[in-house]
Amino acid sequence: MMRSHHCAQLTKTDLGQTVSLVGWVDSIRDQGGIIFIDLRDRKGVTQIKLEPNSNADVGARAAHLKSESVVGVTGRVSLRPAGTANPNLVTGEIEVDATSLVVHNISETPPFPLDDASGDKVNEDLRLTYRYLDLRRPKMRRNLEVRHRATKSVRDYFDANDFIEVETPALFKSTPEGAREYLVPSRVHPGQFYALSQSPQQFKQILMVAGVERYFQIARCFRDEDLRSDRQMEFTQIDAEMSFIEREDIYCLFEGMLKKVWKDVLDVDLPTPFPRLPYKEAMNRFGVDKPDTRFALELVDFSDVFQHSKFKVFQGTIASGGVVKAINAKGLADITQGEITDLEEIAKTLGAKGLAYIKSENGEWKSPIVKFFSDAEKAELTKRLNIVDGDLVFFAAAPWERACAILGRIRLEAAQLLVKRSRLTIPADQWNFLWVVDFPLMSYDEEQGRYVATHHPFTAPVVEDAALLDSDPKAVRGQHYDIVLNGTELGGGSIRIHQPGIQKKIFEDVLKIPPDLVESRFGYMLRAFQYGAPPHGGIAFGLDRMVALLCGTTSIRDVIAFPKTQKAQDLMTQSPTPVTPKHLRDLHIQTVVPQA
Ligand code: AMO
Ligand code: AMP
Repeated sequence: MMRSHHCAQLTKTDLGQTVSLVGWVDSIRDQGGIIFIDLRDRKGVTQIKLEPNSNADVGARAAHLKSESVVGVTGRVSLRPAGTANPNLVTGEIEVDATSLVVHNISETPPFPLDDASGDKVNEDLRLTYRYLDLRRPKMRRNLEVRHRATKSVRDYFDANDFIEVETPALFKSTPEGAREYLVPSRVHPGQFYALSQSPQQFKQILMVAGVERYFQIARCFRDEDLRSDRQMEFTQIDAEMSFIEREDIYCLFEGMLKKVWKDVLDVDLPTPFPRLPYKEAMNRFGVDKPDTRFALELVDFSDVFQHSKFKVFQGTIASGGVVKAINAKGLADITQGEITDLEEIAKTLGAKGLAYIKSENGEWKSPIVKFFSDAEKAELTKRLNIVDGDLVFFAAAPWERACAILGRIRLEAAQLLVKRSRLTIPADQWNFLWVVDFPLMSYDEEQGRYVATHHPFTAPVVEDAALLDSDPKAVRGQHYDIVLNGTELGGGSIRIHQPGIQKKIFEDVLKIPPDLVESRFGYMLRAFQYGAPPHGGIAFGLDRMVALLCGTTSIRDVIAFPKTQKAQDLMTQSPTPVTPKHLRDLHIQTVVPQA
């Protein structure tokens, strides 16, 4: 037996016992005649005392030790001398007087310090290159544990609610309707490809036709997307589908799941039901379909006020069907010119023509545009935005969706500037869940000159709106719902179309996919639906995003053991790599690499 106890276990109650511990040398201090080792395993740290003068064998071995070496010790638990106890450690009152020391492996000096405070400042590429060292840090180890707890809690919940876990293929077929996909060449069928599954969507619906009724899967999904802090090319969904359910059943069931996870992992009691916010209202008030409602700074519409304004930008935008919206960044009148310029640049990336503003300072409005405003317009601004001295108001004049998006982003940026000035707190332990509902089923894609599904083409229309499918597709709401937490889209799903005729109509008449393509891409699904498809619906949560929120980190890379970098590389294994010409020949592939 290599160990009798782990390194966060021994206390005063164990005094006098002979114990064996194993682990890594967290630190080693030679105090002239006595050597102290902080021995670390995944549970914690115990202080080991070595006396080379009275035990030459131990002394000789300890002489070669370096941090992160792996050792085993046997010795007696004794009390640390008065005044040397460490109240921050469970094991802080004792030490182990080692009588034997086994060196399992000497470590090279690590390329960066492994304590949390220092490790957090290390360049992420270096951490990812030596991920096995990075994962030794207490914080990273805790993140892995939280991920395990959350996943277990989810599995238990599904099991208790009569779901069964079914695995669906990762090697699927190409479905160009979704995100960009990863292709896998077939050796057996020259020139043909599988695609890695972007989500189990189609298989889970087929499982409903198969009579499974309640399916779930902790499913790996693959999407060739531009990577960001909340996006990986390979990520995990908590995926579920049910037959004979309606939206209300789904809200209730998954509020229950989140309630259990938050209780099991954080011991937090989430109040349910979660608020519901129609998409239009979310956009109008927060400028985004995944609002962080922990702070206000809401958008206000002024299209009625500036209809006949002397400021032509506003008047002209409204005349051509657009809107004028504003937000009051309360208390931000001391914004610097540099910060304004940054915000203008951000607004421009979202299609803004400018970012008009008013600073209210010393009883005066400072703004390049205020000279155009009538007294009535100013009074209305003051009233609706509650403007007082020290405030800063931003405007966006643009088509509705763009104006919302611009100010939605400016709202988040302004909130950060207020946080930096300690004028706003966004509590990290406040969990503002909400359902965003009533999304439009389709949106018009100018580039393709046709309607595209807002989420995916399997979402059922809201029953009252279905009659508008032919006459006014963009007015049709979908039976889709997103679950949002503190500004992050955690998951989404919908009630699906289960009648093959309606599904075919959506593909062909509304989305204008040619019938032969519908047949080659979705024929199998339409056929399956002809054999008694039950009414069904489901949802998928981003497990990585959920765990990141539970861990209080903003990057999902921190909760994935071996993530890819923003440049889609695995720095530890150095992937992707070129392959041999033979390998390519076997797969019937020729590559054309663009010249750098
Ligand atoms: P959707 O595409 O919205 O829905 O995905 C569901 C959830 O998965 C997470 N997610 C991601 N997480 C990390 N990296 C990514 N690249 C990534 N892409 C998505 C998000 C998102 O909310 N089949 C449907 C669900 C359904 O209708 O049941 C689907 O995949 O948290
Ligand atoms: P201009 O008359 O174009 O010089 O613009 C006057 C002010 O209005 C500048 O501060 C611009 O940034 C701002 N502005 C111009 N177009 C818009 C717009 N569409 N929405 C909001 N502000 C704008």
